[in-house]
Formats: sequence, C-alpha cells, structure tokens
Amino acid sequence: MVPPTLSIVMTSSDRILSPALRSKLMSAEAAAALIPSGVNVGMSGFTGAGYPKAVPGALAKRIMDANLHGKNFKIGVWTGASTAPELDGALAMVDGVELRLPYQSDPTCRKRINAGEMEYLDMHLSQVAQFVWFGFLGKLDVAVVEVAGVLEDGRLIPSSSVGNNKTWLEQADKIILEVNTWQSSALEGMHDVYYGTALPPHRKPIPLVKVDDRIGEPYLRCDPSKVIAVVETTTPDRNSAFSPPDESSRLIAGHILEFFQHEVKKGRLPAELLPLQSGVGNIANAVMAGLDQGPFNNLTAYTEVLQDGMLDLLKSGKLACASATAFSLSSAALAELNADLARYRERIILRPQEISNHPELIRRLGVIAMNGMIEADIYGNVNSTHVMGTRIMNGIGGSGDFARNAYISIFMTPSQAKGGEISCIVPMASHVDHTEHDVQIIVTEQGLADLRGLSPKQRAKVVIENCAHPHFRPALNDYYKRALLHSEGKQTPHLLDEALSWHLRYLRGGQM
Ligand code: COA
Repeated sequence: MVPPTLSIVMTSSDRILSPALRSKLMSAEAAAALIPSGVNVGMSGFTGAGYPKAVPGALAKRIMDANLHGKNFKIGVWTGASTAPELDGALAMVDGVELRLPYQSDPTCRKRINAGEMEYLDMHLSQVAQFVWFGFLGKLDVAVVEVAGVLEDGRLIPSSSVGNNKTWLEQADKIILEVNTWQSSALEGMHDVYYGTALPPHRKPIPLVKVDDRIGEPYLRCDPSKVIAVVETTTPDRNSAFSPPDESSRLIAGHILEFFQHEVKKGRLPAELLPLQSGVGNIANAVMAGLDQGPFNNLTAYTEVLQDGMLDLLKSGKLACASATAFSLSSAALAELNADLARYRERIILRPQEISNHPELIRRLGVIAMNGMIEADIYGNVNSTHVMGTRIMNGIGGSGDFARNAYISIFMTPSQAKGGEISCIVPMASHVDHTEHDVQIIVTEQGLADLRGLSPKQRAKVVIENCAHPHFRPALNDYYKRALLHSEGKQTPHLLDEALSWHLRYLRGGQM
C-alpha cells in the first residue's frame, strides 16, 4: 500500500468533514446539470470575493449548448454584490440571465443590461435578505455557495465574503456547495453570522454597539438534506488591481482629511474619528492611503468591503479593527493577507451584508460614509449609477444604506470626466440615487462643499464655487443666476427646458 503523502492528506475532501456531504461530491458539470432553466439561483460572491468558481462556468456552457439547440435557457441570478468574469461574465456572455440583482460591475453584463437584453434590479444591499424573507422577490430555487470548509455536523466555514449566503442557504429549496481549498483555512473564526433577525412585527434590536462586537456564530448553518451537490475547487478570487492614487484622488483625500481635522477641532468628531465606511473604487482607496499618512490613530471601520487601503491601515496599526462583509483586494494584497491571516483575523470581522449595511447599526455607530459618484447637481442631488441618465454603470450598492443613515455622508468625484468633456457638477442630475436630504458633503479635487444646514439656494453657491471645475464654473453660475430670475418656484430654482441640456449636448456633440 502506498503511504499517504502530504498531498494526499491535504486533498480538498479534508475540508469536507461531514460524511453525508462528502458523499455528494461531483463535478461542476454534473452539479450544473441539476439547475434547470427558469429558476432563480442565489449565488455567493461580493466584490470579487467568495463567488463560486466552477458551477457558473459549467452552467454557462450548458446554457450555450441548449440555446444552440433553439432553447431559451435563462435563469435569475441573485448575489451579494458584484462577482467576477467566471460568474457574471460567463453567464452574460451566453445571454443566460433573465434578471440580475442586486449589483453588478461586469462589462459584459453592463452591455447586455444597457442593450435591453437583461433585466437588472439595482437594490440597496441591506434590503436584499429581507426582501427575500418578505417574499417580494419570488421564490429562490437553488443556492450555489462557495465555502472554505464543511464541519462534521454540516455547518459551513464561510469563505472570503459572507454577503447574502445565510439567506440563500435558508431560503433556497436546493443547495450546491463549492468547497474551495484555495481559500485559507485560517478564515475559520473570522466570520460573525447573526441569526437573530426576524420579520416584523417580531423584530428585536440588534445587539451590536461596537465595531468589534461579535453577536453571532463563526459558521453558516446548512440543512444537509437540501444539499444536492458538493464541488471541489482550487481557484483564487479574482480582483482587479487598484491604480496608484493620481493627483486628483490625492487632492480629494487631502480635502477630506482637512475636513476631519476641522471637525475634531470643533468637537464634532472624536480624535479617533467615528467608524469609517469606504466605498468601492480608486478614490476611496486613495482616501485610505491619505489616512495612513494622516494624524488620526486608533481608527475603526464599519464598512461593506475591505480594500487594499484598509489593509494597509490595519498593517500600519492606524486602524484598530474593521467590520465588513467581504474582501475586495488586489491579488498582491490578497497574497499578503493570506500569508498572515491568523494575525489579521483578530482585527477583522466579516458579517452578512444585512448586518454590515444595516441602517440601525450605521445610525447607532455614527458611521462616516464616503462613497464615489458619477455626478452631483448644484443642489446636492447625487447620481451614483447612471451615465447620461439612462445607461447603468454599476449600481447603488451599499452607498444608500450608508449615506442615508450616516453621521456624516460624503460623496466624492473628480470635477470632470472623459478628459474634461464632462462636468461632474451639473445643473440637474440626470438620475438621482441620493437626494439632497442624504448628501452632506461633496468633494472634488477643487475643494469640499459642506452642505449641512444649508438651503438649496445656499447649497448651489457652495457647490459651484468649491467643487466645480473652473472651466465649467462660469456656465454653472450663469445657469443658476438665470434660474433664480426666471424659475417659477424659488425654493429650488431650475430652467426646466435647459436643466438637462448639458447632458444632451454631450450626447449629441461629445462635449458638455
Ligand atoms: N459622466 C459620465 N461618465 C462618468 C462620469 C460622468 N459624470 N463620471 C465618471 N464617469 C466614468 C469615468 O469616465 C469612468 O469611465 P471608464 O470606466 O470608461 O474610464 C467610470 O465612470 C468610473 O469613473 P472613475 O472616476 O474611475 O470612478 P470610480 O472608480 O471611483 O467609480 C462610481 C465611481 C460612481 C462608478 C463607483 O463609485 C460606483 O459604482 N458607485 C456606486 C456604488 C457604491 O457607491 N458602492 C459602495 C458602497 S459601499
């Protein structure tokens, strides 16, 4: 008999300690064959972390073959948030998605949505779980969830994101598990899965009062009788690298840091600030880099995703602890995290997105929310999702969960886009995700507009003067002055036949 070598001892099925679930091991193709057309599938995955790596690709192939034979094979795809080319890209490529929710950022998906070939329900991420429980989204037929391991009693070690997995496992009729041995075994113990949420009128306060409170369990519960397949994978999470902060991002970060210092001096923020939420993208990452060089210590984060910049803050010790629902790290940062995960685990907690983004908790903790935007209008209404009013970029993600309930809600963007052809400060936003009531601070590389306590007309002056690019400032001032003179209503003056003319001009001539 051949003695067991390390590689034999370390086979992936060593991560599957439950004999009942181990008996359901099969190939991704065999598992994908169990998903019929027309069903809703809840997949794991949040910002390129913890998504299933094998079944979606096998399913895409199956869909392509079926459609080549004249079938119209499509499924509904529900996730935590964005995933990766292996999931969103693969399924969109074969036109296999009837309806996608609640967030995506995949180029092929985006193309299909904007071409009218895929329905997209862009939702507040905190609301997905309760909408499923309420029955507002219809039936969830199948869950496909990546995990880092399976315990003997069938409980699951979550992987690099938690997202909506708790809800998918509870609500789906059938479950397919992907056990990914690439995910570090040191993830065990990092998660905090809260099982105390209930439906109205039986809801109780969620007992979390500090960022690092643990109120749940480190494992996901799973009914083994619902598991129809277990698939082994070894593929890494795939995330794009962040660009190093450019001049514009550095200036935006500088304005925000100066603002924080001012607020501390005024006694409106403690010296260690309040828990930070940082959105997706390069600017958000640059703000974290700015904080790493800044004067604040003992920071905390109550956020949705942990990007490279936050990992740097943890490493330097500036950030004491971080709570999120997923990692969103470049491969270099991911390698660094995985090499030292047991140490980071002390200071990172991953929770379900209904908890990481919960309005009650964001309000209680006094989170400082910082999110990117596409454009803002002179009155402080913010568009985070639609280019020129009709074409989706990504989605609202968690920005609304945080902005509406934050202690201070900040939106940031460079003042211009597309090489200066577009002003990101416009007379009227071509789509509104965050109304003037949820937007307190607007920042561009030009400066920061503090809109707290200002009426719409007072806001317009500050937004134009502090945030607009000098190239567009005179035209914005001209619009505002004429609107003030000729608008029928003087609360939020507009010239309705001109308010969206900047966008029309860009669409027709390539320049605002
Ligand atoms: N009009 C048209 N296009 C614009 C634009 C505008 N006013 N402002 C930016 N863009 C384009 C950029 O040119 C760029 O296009 P490209 O990909 O073709 O180069 C793209 O939008 C992204 O802009 P960028 O400046 O690189 O910003 P970003 O990476 O910081 O992303 C958002 C900005 C708004 C797209 C991003 O923050 C987002 O999706 N936000 C919504 C979700 C969210 O906030 N999630 C976090 C919650 S926790």
